Amino acid sequence: MNSNIYLHRFALFTTVCTFLLIIAGGLVTSTQSGLAVPDWPQTYGHFMFAFPLDQMVGGIFYEHTHRMIASFVGLLTVILAVWLWKRDDRRWMHVLGFIAFGSVVTQGILGGLTVLFLLPTAISVSHATLAQTFFAIVASIALFTSPWWKLQQPTLNHEGKRISLFHLSIITTVVVYVQLILGALMRHTQSGLVVPDFPLAYGQLFPSLSPEALSQYNNQLINADILLAADGPITTNQIVIHMLHRIWAIVVAIMIVWTSVRLFKVSSKRISRFSYIFLGLLIIQIALGALTVLSVKAIIATTAHVVIGALLLITCVVTSLHAIKLYGVRFAQKTVSFSVREVTV
Ligand code: HEM
Ligand code: HEM
Repeated sequence: MNSNIYLHRFALFTTVCTFLLIIAGGLVTSTQSGLAVPDWPQTYGHFMFAFPLDQMVGGIFYEHTHRMIASFVGLLTVILAVWLWKRDDRRWMHVLGFIAFGSVVTQGILGGLTVLFLLPTAISVSHATLAQTFFAIVASIALFTSPWWKLQQPTLNHEGKRISLFHLSIITTVVVYVQLILGALMRHTQSGLVVPDFPLAYGQLFPSLSPEALSQYNNQLINADILLAADGPITTNQIVIHMLHRIWAIVVAIMIVWTSVRLFKVSSKRISRFSYIFLGLLIIQIALGALTVLSVKAIIATTAHVVIGALLLITCVVTSLHAIKLYGVRFAQKTVSFSVREVTV
């Protein structure tokens, strides 16, 4: 198999740039700059790359910078897809390169449409979710092109547990992905501050949703300057979305701790070190979630919460892929390693 180190480095570079793009995108939403540039694909009537730098002020700075970085990542993805097509001898990698290309194009279109349609929830949530998915795809390409992935054979035995580490990490990935969607839903339905206290919710485990309680919450939010009368009253749907994200965080925490304990016991250092990364990211993420609420959505805390969410997702994906590689995947009686070349029965 052709071990092209430059292709791997390029995939890593694309992953790092995508990470920066997610920070920039998070800042657009956190600073409420989504409509600072009202047209697309142009920027205030200019060809986007010819937009005068001295006019990049206020929200325009965040939105236009986000578009510029997105264009750069788009270019990198095209190069990556073509490079994989030409130089990688695994056909499934050609497909993955094509999927990355399709995702970045769709993502760009969703970004443009959310501007043109004035940030509708469905499009903004799809844009936020596809961003994280795209990040996971390019991170996977970086792993698949690494010399380690190409040379490593399955070396670990299944521990005889009911649920294999591979299945456990896949379930954790799905659980975290659901949480990212709930988070995006919360962010783009303006539900982030409808419950202003933490860890309790209006002093209760689950806030009452009666009409009387709702009007009391509205008064409380207006008195605390969290809500303006002009914003309109909060709804039970917003409270339910907010609480679902908090409750699902408990499921996320359980799954991550479980996966970390299992990882910790694995003899291969290469995979066991993910247990520390998981636990570290989980603690930071819960703290940032609480801080997002208690700081009334301070820009840095809120954006960091989005970004650490993305890091948690790719940690899940990369851990699952390591489990596939090191254990092989069990299908009925067969153990199939994740390479077209070797099939061990
Ligand atoms: C590879 C391409 C792109 C990626 C990975 C990406 C990523 C992101 C991310 C992570 C967010 C934050 C979502 C959130 O915090 O909930 C965001 C927001 C946003 N992005 Fe992009 N983006 C891309 C391309 C674009 C393009 C081409 C546009 C064109 C206008 C755009 C416009 C926006 C807007 C307007 C928001 C704010 C949405 C809102 O506040 O509702 N994005 N993007
Ligand atoms: C540990 C698991 C958690 C994960 C993986 C997670 C992930 C996320 C993500 C990715 C977003 C933004 C999604 C996007 O727009 O792209 C988000 C939003 C949010 N999360 Fe979490 N979260 C977690 C726990 C929590 C906790 C414990 C709280 C505490 C209340 C919390 C509070 C929030 C709030 C308030 C928002 C919306 C921010 C806004 O309106 O701008 N999160 N979460």
